[in-house]
Amino acid sequence: MPIFWSKFKKPILALAPMAGYTDSAFRILCLENGADVVYTEMISAEGLARQNKKTLKMLEFLPGEKNVIVQLFGTNPEAFGKATEIIGKRSHRSAVSGPRDDINPIVGIDVNFGCPAKKVFHTGAGAALMNNKKMAREIVEAVLKNTKLPVSIKIRSQVKNTTAEEFIEYLKDLPIAMVMVHGRTLAQGFSGEINYEAIKNIKKLLPKVIVLGNGGINSVEDARIMLEKTGCDGVGIARGALGQPWIFGDIKKYYNHPGPILHRTTPPLKGGDATVAILPFRRGGAPTAVGAEGLKIWPEIKSTMLAHAKLFLKQNENLIPLRKHLVHYVKGLPNASELRQKLIQVETLAELEKILKK
Ligand SMILES: Cc1cc2nc3c(=O)[nH]c(=O)nc-3n(C[C@H](O)[C@H](O)[C@H](O)COP(=O)(O)O)c2cc1C
Repeated sequence: MPIFWSKFKKPILALAPMAGYTDSAFRILCLENGADVVYTEMISAEGLARQNKKTLKMLEFLPGEKNVIVQLFGTNPEAFGKATEIIGKRSHRSAVSGPRDDINPIVGIDVNFGCPAKKVFHTGAGAALMNNKKMAREIVEAVLKNTKLPVSIKIRSQVKNTTAEEFIEYLKDLPIAMVMVHGRTLAQGFSGEINYEAIKNIKKLLPKVIVLGNGGINSVEDARIMLEKTGCDGVGIARGALGQPWIFGDIKKYYNHPGPILHRTTPPLKGGDATVAILPFRRGGAPTAVGAEGLKIWPEIKSTMLAHAKLFLKQNENLIPLRKHLVHYVKGLPNASELRQKLIQVETLAELEKILKK
């Protein structure tokens, strides 16, 4: 196991990749809230290989970023090799000069074998590669050949006729450092039951490799169930971190001081124990349960939103692209729809502050 992965106390907590969401600002917020590693959104290997300006911009980082795994997608092993080389050179350049070039938070390269989005799948990339094991292997080999960084892959429990187990059997002799398994099939997309058995089998097939279970983790309880049922080394959290980046800290807290299980996820209270704050069931539970108790922690939600916006403005001119994140923070609050209406129009920090003052 590479030194990088052996340094973490288990369970390892990862912010899973989300296109359009896991940018620098959100990655920093999640790191500050207890995530151990954070993924970029998927980046086109072809785009990087061609040195496309927009694609290269996705490799710009902010001070404070660390433990970033760059995720690549594509179909062409040669492009993956070139993209990997560029990531390496970028790291080298990072160490030398430039106002932001001294920042090199990249700790790993990941290959996307799980994306079902039509525009990715139809090109033969993402989840489609689980049905093209030979090509998948060539891609992983090309990445491994061109980097000393730990290489990881993200897979689904099944894509058409190929199970995660068969896919891993085919690749398991390669020095892959980590596997994140989304416990849903391609057909399930992003909802439905998690196949814990498949994740457990992958850990059995790869006892010396870090295996992270992913899918449906929206609370400490969900993380506990995933870890208990699969024996995996940690969890990858995607949508469960939206509007509640403190989920990582809550899970950490539970495992550092096991006690009564938290059935809900709460933001950290200033000077207090997060477990006493109550924001029942932001997701998946009875919305009527939120009510006045949600308002108790409104100051903490507000300060997290402002911190998020300030980080975001370090790389963006206005808050328009952040609106989709902001609305997640008010989900389940009694006045959510009124707040939502305002948040989807916000552009500046001053406007956001005004909305949150009330
Ligand atoms: C908006 C969105 C964007 C996503 N983008 C990516 C991506 O770029 N790469 C990837 O491997 N998975 C991507 N995923 C999948 C997630 O990483 C994760 O596997 C999936 O959402 C299940 O986890 P969750 O139940 O915690 O959300 C995306 C999911 C969502 C909802």
